[in-house]
Amino acid sequence: MSDKKSLPVAIFDWFDARLPISSFWRTQLTRYPAPKNFNLWYFFGSLALLVLVLQLATGLFLAIHYQPNPDLAYWSVLRGIERDSHWGWLIRNMHIVGASAFFLLVYLHMYRGIMYGSYKKPRELLWLVGIFIYLVLAAEAFLGYLLPWGQMSYWGSAVVTNFVTAIPGIGKPIAEWLRGSFVVGTPTLNRFFVFHVFLMPLLLLALVLVHLIALHQVGSNNPDGIEIHENVNETGWPRDGIPFHPYYTVKDLFGVSVFFVIFFWFVFYNPGGWGLLLDKLNYTPANILHTPSDIHPLWFFLPFYAMLRGVPDKLYGIMTFAGSFALLACLPLLDRNPVRSIRYRPVLYKINIFMMPVSFIWLGIIAHGSATEQNMVFGLHVTEVFYATFLFLPFFNRERSLIAKLAWFLVAEMVVWGIDVWMYSIHAHSWHLMLQTDWIPATYVLLIFGLSVLFPSLARDSGKLPERVTAGGIFH
Ligand code: HEM
Repeated sequence: MSDKKSLPVAIFDWFDARLPISSFWRTQLTRYPAPKNFNLWYFFGSLALLVLVLQLATGLFLAIHYQPNPDLAYWSVLRGIERDSHWGWLIRNMHIVGASAFFLLVYLHMYRGIMYGSYKKPRELLWLVGIFIYLVLAAEAFLGYLLPWGQMSYWGSAVVTNFVTAIPGIGKPIAEWLRGSFVVGTPTLNRFFVFHVFLMPLLLLALVLVHLIALHQVGSNNPDGIEIHENVNETGWPRDGIPFHPYYTVKDLFGVSVFFVIFFWFVFYNPGGWGLLLDKLNYTPANILHTPSDIHPLWFFLPFYAMLRGVPDKLYGIMTFAGSFALLACLPLLDRNPVRSIRYRPVLYKINIFMMPVSFIWLGIIAHGSATEQNMVFGLHVTEVFYATFLFLPFFNRERSLIAKLAWFLVAEMVVWGIDVWMYSIHAHSWHLMLQTDWIPATYVLLIFGLSVLFPSLARDSGKLPERVTAGGIFH
């Protein structure tokens, strides 16, 4: 048999001798051990990666036809792209639906990390990079929303840049620099366009790369939160590990197929997503002389909007909004219990973790309603619950004495009532209105600490952790 190589093999070998292609493939895929019990929550990271690529690809074609000028922007999108360019409508619909899909996937991805304690040692940096990714993603979405120059684009940007002015000292210069003027106008559109198509995507790509490098340095966590690298066979391979390729590449392909069915249903049949994925008001060109009666962001920012609206002071509103990111970033400090996965944590801890998305979605629903005073107070009280779900985490770090439990209970109730007294003292809201929804945080505090006093076992770690990962993954 001749040992002469075929042309494709020879070309590959030529490159492989000069670039680490096959060693990269081996170390990062075929010889990269992933825990064997990944469940469906582990689909969302790879799907987020897919949507990132889709957004970059569709964004490129949109940018080719888009005109970053207030006189032309609206019609360059609604007519130039949607009607006059080949497949323009498809590309735009994919970009619109892709933006919402990105946020949904990232929220699910983050919640998976919270449930399985993936922010704990040694993955703190991986988590922190994730938070930065979220912030850049949020900036990217905000900047892109101005580009079609519709009514909601314009007034949404005006409201947000106006909020920035509330930061003492630096707020006004930052807002002016962001707008390039005293109001949202031509310079604003030009710079938002450049930031949206150039700066933020570059940052996003760089951060995602760092995210994946950090992940491969420490290895994946799993639904049991057990470190697979601590139990290896004679060859050094984790006993509960399987090669990422082909096992998880195939599994992820299944996730991609299901995702595409849902994604393209929206793209073809419902790109506006009942006004949630693209506001109906944005089908009207921006009119700087007419402020819409109800200005609100797209669904993925609504919970934060409820926080901003709930606090009757711009600066404190911004602080509350920024504080929610600080709490997310501080999760590794707040939750220091060595048990990672929610599966092996006590019932009250489970309820607390469950209340995180519940209060977040609740805030979104409140902000979707109109800006009545009642909705604002409602938003404030649900914000308190959202904050509480993070601030209660240290309570579960270890077993607490009865005195400690009562102290936590009293302090938490006093904070809730203290905020109300302060609101009343500055005439922000009437007592009557505040009491209508004050029962929400007050009851939540009572539920967590009251039950932990009455039934201590509900707050106690069982101490039972399996030595190996358990059934429930795709191989069981
Ligand atoms: C563009 C957005 C993002 C992309 C493309 C991305 C991608 C990925 C991928 C592919 C994985 C490995 C597969 C998996 O575990 O699902 C992963 C893991 C992880 N990501 Fe992200 N990610 C993004 C945003 C975030 C954010 C916003 C956070 C949190 C704030 C985060 C936190 C994590 C953590 C903690 C892990 C390890 C999870 C574990 O091992 O259990 N990621 N990411």
